[in-house]
Amino acid sequence: MTKIEMFTGKGGVGKTTMSVATALHYAQSGKTLLISTDPSGSLTEIFGRSLNQRVVTVAENLDAVELTRELVLKLWREKFADEIYTVLSSFLPVGREIIDYIEGAPGIDEEFMLDYLLTMAQSGTYQTIVWDTAPTVTTLNLLFIQQLFYSHLTQAQKVYLKVKSVFSKVDPLTLIDKWLHLTAQIIEMLRTDTRAWVVANPEQLPVAQALNIAASLAEFKIGVNGFILNKMLPLEICGQHPFWLAKYEAQQNCRRILCQSAGALSVKEIPELAGKMKVDGFLGDVVKLLY
Ligand SMILES: Nc1ncnc2c1ncn2[C@@H]1O[C@H](COP(=O)(O)OP(=O)(O)OP(=O)(O)O)[C@@H](O)[C@H]1O
Ligand SMILES: [Mg+2]
Repeated sequence: MTKIEMFTGKGGVGKTTMSVATALHYAQSGKTLLISTDPSGSLTEIFGRSLNQRVVTVAENLDAVELTRELVLKLWREKFADEIYTVLSSFLPVGREIIDYIEGAPGIDEEFMLDYLLTMAQSGTYQTIVWDTAPTVTTLNLLFIQQLFYSHLTQAQKVYLKVKSVFSKVDPLTLIDKWLHLTAQIIEMLRTDTRAWVVANPEQLPVAQALNIAASLAEFKIGVNGFILNKMLPLEICGQHPFWLAKYEAQQNCRRILCQSAGALSVKEIPELAGKMKVDGFLGDVVKLLY
């Protein structure tokens, strides 16, 4: 079974950095896919090639794709548009343009990102999928949308059963059943095959948010590996100057708070590094520090 490792955290804390380093690490022992649902396009920048149209092999054993909203919606149309249109047009006087309306509905792209993740996990091609998520709120929304969608479908099934007689051309229950099954599989994938790392910088707000995220993930029953405290200032550099020493002490204070609250979860530390965020830049150092 493909295992999924996800990286989450506040904006700009180092999720993409940790995801790429982790993907490089897993690629040393098996076929790995790096998926980014972060809309900023960092992967394209890091690997120096366009990754937002399809899965591209970027290194030995390593494939990558950037799931932009456009790409996700394109794939969603290819997979679901016909089915949805069939169901709707069976009892409503609507044309194909209804698909454009549905496509604009909040949550459709997020919903489909998870379906894409499931398809990739089920393909059996990859030993590991590393998932670089969009900043906090979106990712958590994404997970809750999934749960909402599931309960909605359960309700919808009851309603459709009552009005079954109006469906003439198709049996929408078969499709609803299929979607329900798909959603249940996605929830199952998140709960059994997925582990999360929560990334934070050693500052008050990112640490507080990281703890909240970990609690939300646990509430959703997604396993959390632990925290990565990124961009720690080294004492040997800060010791020379009162300003940097004060910064260092503030960081250490945040570290203590995180470690105390983390309980049994692991806390990995990555120092502030110099150089470029490239495979031949400091990403190689991050791989060694993490693994
Ligand atoms: N340990 C580090 N030392 C120095 N710079 C770092 C370190 N980790 C990350 N950076 C730099 O910090 C910036 C943000 O990192 P990154 O893009 O990985 O964060 P992110 O959480 O993915 O951001 P976003 O929320 O925008 O997707 C980048 O410019 C990256 O090069
Ligand atoms: Mg990012």
